[in-house]
Amino acid sequence: MHLQPVRLFRGYIVNPAAEDRYALYTDGGLAVDANGIILDVGAYHEMRRQHPGAAIIDCSDRLILPGFIDTHTHLPQFGAVALYGKELPEWLNEHIFPAERQFTPEAADTQCPIFFHSLLAFGVTTAAIYCAVRKDSTHVAFQWAERTGIRAIIGKVMMDRNAPDFLLENTSDSLRAGEELCREWHGAANGRLLYAFTPRFAPTCSRALMKGVSDLAGRYGAYIQTHLAENRAEIQWVRDLFPEMRSYTEVYFGVGLLGPKTLLAHAIHVGADERRLLAETQSCLSHCPTSNLFLKSGLMPLRELMNSRLRIGLGSDVGGGPTLSPFEVMRSAIYTHTARRMLHDVDGGDISPATALYLATLGGAAALGLDNKIGSLVRGKEADFVVVNPRRLSPLPTDKWMDLSSDTLLSRMIFLGDDRVVEQTYVRGALCHDRHSNENIGRQR
Ligand code: GUN
Ligand code: ZN
Repeated sequence: MHLQPVRLFRGYIVNPAAEDRYALYTDGGLAVDANGIILDVGAYHEMRRQHPGAAIIDCSDRLILPGFIDTHTHLPQFGAVALYGKELPEWLNEHIFPAERQFTPEAADTQCPIFFHSLLAFGVTTAAIYCAVRKDSTHVAFQWAERTGIRAIIGKVMMDRNAPDFLLENTSDSLRAGEELCREWHGAANGRLLYAFTPRFAPTCSRALMKGVSDLAGRYGAYIQTHLAENRAEIQWVRDLFPEMRSYTEVYFGVGLLGPKTLLAHAIHVGADERRLLAETQSCLSHCPTSNLFLKSGLMPLRELMNSRLRIGLGSDVGGGPTLSPFEVMRSAIYTHTARRMLHDVDGGDISPATALYLATLGGAAALGLDNKIGSLVRGKEADFVVVNPRRLSPLPTDKWMDLSSDTLLSRMIFLGDDRVVEQTYVRGALCHDRHSNENIGRQR
């Protein structure tokens, strides 16, 4: 095989470093080796000196940022997005369970390439994904993730009670199917594909199923992903089903589901004791602000949860959220926080564009326990990054974007960005999306 030489990408590099801090190289260089590992990041002329044999890829009128990370989305719901009106329980029954019923392997074979290409077109390089209950369709999803080059954590949904018959499984069959998928796919494609045991949420899972998931995930070092405290009626349902437990979070704790490889979506209505339990178990959260507004679920207390030292990423929650756009999710996180402050007089300052970018990149990587590999452009990490065209972010074509401050550029990108600004998406150094050659594939806004 012919190995590519070192490539040196030249551009305006914006590199999240912490919740409220990013590094900037206005004329930067990102050196990537033949295996897609970052060799170096810094000022372009310095990088050029350090890597004299590198092939230069000139993006000098473009922004280079780490790829976006979607920590919560549902592949089979992609065709059922933007159906507004109902809250969670009715929406699941009316729109989502029928859509998931139709997620046969044949349907998956059609939908998966569109879904993955749409993510890549939005600059999403990593996604944590729920499939439907069928093992064979989940297998197809992994095959397409492998083929398209995206980094993904995928699991088949598990449900053994309180769901329509056509989606219900027997407890031991569900655990066996999950285990088989995990054995085949966890760590596949040289670690780019990972498995997440995916018990849908407490109302549709027996204690035996959730305990079985806890055992299996521990045995294989795999993830667990589920939903927590999203909707008031859902929480009452959990209270009725588990009357002896003090809270929804305690239900998961009691069956061993909480821990550093557990990703809980929403966590809108969680009390102080629940926050403490989440922090003590080092569980991670996915904040899904577009979905929380769309399904009228509530305003997540992002600032308080961040201050509880919880690791938090952002999630599109398609189809609860109407779009895969990380730009839409980032700005909705900011708007939601602003609305909460206006309503409740919450302390703790704004969520800035820099913080929103952090949550969509390095924060998401930390929530997935992958911040040693991805989330920022640092020597030794894998080269997951996007090339963004800032010209498309200026309202006036006469603007000289190079004269704008980096804070202005970030703000513009978050509040005006969509898939048209993302020109290329690279995962582990491999070009997975090029806007100019992929114009017609899987477009979704
Ligand atoms: N809770 C249980 N299932 C789902 C789902 O598919 N979407 C959302 N948003 N919440 C859920
Ligand atoms: Zn969800």
